[in-house]
Amino acid sequence: MFFIKYYITTPIFYVTNKPHIGTAYTVIIADILARWHRLAGNDVFFLTGTDEHGEKIEEAAKKSKKTPQELVDEVSEDYKNLWKDLGITNNDFIRTTDKKHVETVGKFLTEIYKKGDIYKGAYEGWYCVPDETFITELQLVDGKCPICGREVKKVKEESYFFKLSKYQDRLLELYNKNPKFLMPKNKSQEIINRVKSGLNDISISRSTVKWGVELPMEKDHTVYVWFDALVNYLSAINWPNESYKKYWPADLHLVGKEINWFHSVIWPAMLFSIGLDVPKTIFAHGWWTVEGKKMSKSLGNVVDPLDIIKKYGNDSLRYFYVREIPLGDDADFSEKALISRINGELVNDLGNLVYRTLTLVEKFSGDIKGNKELEEKINIQKINNYMNDFDTFNAIEEIWSIVRNTNKYINEKEAWKLSGEELGSVLYNLLESLRIISILIAPFMPETSEKIRKQLGNKVENLSDCTFKTYTGKVKKEGHLFEKIK
Ligand code: MSP
Repeated sequence: MFFIKYYITTPIFYVTNKPHIGTAYTVIIADILARWHRLAGNDVFFLTGTDEHGEKIEEAAKKSKKTPQELVDEVSEDYKNLWKDLGITNNDFIRTTDKKHVETVGKFLTEIYKKGDIYKGAYEGWYCVPDETFITELQLVDGKCPICGREVKKVKEESYFFKLSKYQDRLLELYNKNPKFLMPKNKSQEIINRVKSGLNDISISRSTVKWGVELPMEKDHTVYVWFDALVNYLSAINWPNESYKKYWPADLHLVGKEINWFHSVIWPAMLFSIGLDVPKTIFAHGWWTVEGKKMSKSLGNVVDPLDIIKKYGNDSLRYFYVREIPLGDDADFSEKALISRINGELVNDLGNLVYRTLTLVEKFSGDIKGNKELEEKINIQKINNYMNDFDTFNAIEEIWSIVRNTNKYINEKEAWKLSGEELGSVLYNLLESLRIISILIAPFMPETSEKIRKQLGNKVENLSDCTFKTYTGKVKKEGHLFEKIK
């Protein structure tokens, strides 16, 4: 069988913070895309993991009176467990303290050094520890970090530099030639303008930080944590071993907007340096606030996704994430908004459709067959195109229009008044539409999809099964899919 490979990644998560509703967003969206590509028959490699080196971790460990190793072992387990609870279907989980990764970073830097793109100098400027970012005097906003608004510290130390400036033209050419490299479109200009305005070489080693990968050129330095972290996308697939070619270049690095620069500028320049292909797309998604405010420990408004899924279920949260905003926009989380989606769309639209249909089918004893009048309204290609363009928002809207149309069909036909062949034909249209809906929602709401499939008595299917066929299911109604929340 012919498979198209699809390599999708999330950023690797800092183990200083417990996962929250914002971090869960990145991994859930990536999971939805990964599941969609599997449904379409692609050979998916879905990677996530934890970012475990650097000053931020060193400091956090000191504060919690643990060794860095103890801290990273503990919190990376929390991430792994939460991802399991969230039903994430990653194929691998990389930790930057894995021996394989540490070795790969060494090899990667040695290659760049051989190309003449690394030189020794000294760094003098500002550093934001929470963002692990070097910041120039000009970038400061009111003396604070331009990314997170927190305090920055003065740093003066010996350091090795990467010749980022050398790659300005190649980067601009990349953005120009590959319109899908920088996504979404409305955020790409910001990056292009910054690159056009000129690139400085960047510091890539720390001589005052101990918790990191040893710099191959000078053992007293550790590799700057971002230069270490980005390499995870290659170490996970065994670069430089030939087998990396099975999945490289990555099809999608899904990242949050604040780390777009590292992925859209620094990462491709690193790859140019050693002569590797660049990923096909960097997609920068937006940020979630909670009831209008940025989440922070000091405000005490950090929402734990575990609490949400315990209360409302995994599928409700997944549905909410894609339904609220187009991927790329910022959004606001509140339980009120979540409840309104559950009651309005999951209970009323989808839940009711399944319940009404199965009630009618259970009372019917004739043949379920007839015309295919609902089939022409279902446009699978359109949904697949949206998903290939990372447009989860319009994809779910299109799927929902099938749900709404099918509900409308019951009303227009006044199905409850029908009998005999006429009812058999209406039920055929309803059951086939529902079977297709259950397939299409599987990446978005896997548990709900499974519940519908079981009640319809269908086998597991994929995207190529989304056409009307001879009805062969065996219906078994099992109560409501979703409960109305008061
Ligand atoms: N370790 C780096 C990434 C290195 S990738 C080579 C990092 N980690 S992080 O833990 O701070 O962030 C991980 C992801 O969570 C990022 O994509 C980030 O944008 C996302 N989010 C963190 N808070 C968020 C919100 N409030 N809303 C949406 N996503 C947010 O950056």
